[in-house]
Amino acid sequence: MKRMLSGIKPTGRLTLGNYIGAIRNFVNYQNDYEMYIFIANMHAITVPQEKAELKRNTKDLIALYIACGLDPERVTIFLQSDVHEHAELGWIMTCNSYMGELQRMTQYKDKTAKGETGITAGLFTYPSLMAADILLYDADYVPVGVDQKQHVELTRNLAERFNNRYGDTFVVPEPLVEKVGAKVYSLQDPTKKMSKSDANPKGTIDLLDEPSVARKKIMSAVTDSIGIIQYDPENQPGISNLLTILSSLSGESIESIVARYDGKGYGDFKKEVGQCVFDFLTELQNKYKEIISSGLIEKVIKEGDEKARYIARKKVNKVKKKVGLEIF
Ligand code: TYM
Repeated sequence: MKRMLSGIKPTGRLTLGNYIGAIRNFVNYQNDYEMYIFIANMHAITVPQEKAELKRNTKDLIALYIACGLDPERVTIFLQSDVHEHAELGWIMTCNSYMGELQRMTQYKDKTAKGETGITAGLFTYPSLMAADILLYDADYVPVGVDQKQHVELTRNLAERFNNRYGDTFVVPEPLVEKVGAKVYSLQDPTKKMSKSDANPKGTIDLLDEPSVARKKIMSAVTDSIGIIQYDPENQPGISNLLTILSSLSGESIESIVARYDGKGYGDFKKEVGQCVFDFLTELQNKYKEIISSGLIEKVIKEGDEKARYIARKKVNKVKKKVGLEIF
């Protein structure tokens, strides 16, 4: 069975973008792959985090993984900071990364271009740690949204560089980016990614939003004056985004939705998308509430950490030998 690995940062509350671009795919793939899914809390602290909030977001993320349908019996769910090997291999990967290639990573480039101050060294070397996350487990595939594809490409380069220099050590992973939903856009500015850190809460649907609030956000989503429901991201980014959301949550193809709305207006369409999001969040949050009060997340993480550690330790030992960090 091929291996798959992915992770999400517990920064802010999870969005519908995280669900559609990532978690939904983890759930769809869990029967066909040996799956490792983690909480990237070491990545979270590359920007300042308030302690209590980080803890709450971490627990929420574990509960939401399970509420969204990840089966802990099948999937190894673990906490990055509990598996020390991430930090260990992360450092070795940092020492095999060039400043130039890290400077080309869009996340860092965007922040510096905006003139942001207070960018940490951790944020700069973040992609090297991400490479370690993936390479520790010999992952064949990494399911991610479009914004993370560049990091997986860098991981491939680092793996190949290491293998060339030290001999075959790492599996070279492939990013897995879905055709529909790999980038969900802001409801208020459908040219921008829906993001946990968006200053305008009306643009983002949080998985823990009150379902009626989420429905209102859909109803007030920015569209256009063309008046035809069709998938045309260039000229109708708002409508196309809503089509992506409805198709991803309902399983109905975009073509079939478009055909149903032939000759109909945006009002009816938004109502259906709003209702679909409302129903989805209601069901999800009921499960989330049960999980969070059940004590299950502690058990899941304890077991997941143990399985992850076993694999990660073996890999780090092998790497240290190859590099010359182990002398006996
Ligand atoms: P993060 O926490 O920003 O996002 C988690 C996942 O959600 C996807 N995503 C989206 N997909 C579609 N539309 C959106 N609007 C949207 N917003 C987010 C992301 O593409 C991602 O798949 N660096 C990673 C975490 C990480 C990781 C890893 C992932 C650390 N180590 C190893 C994979 C493998 C991150 O910041 O994701």
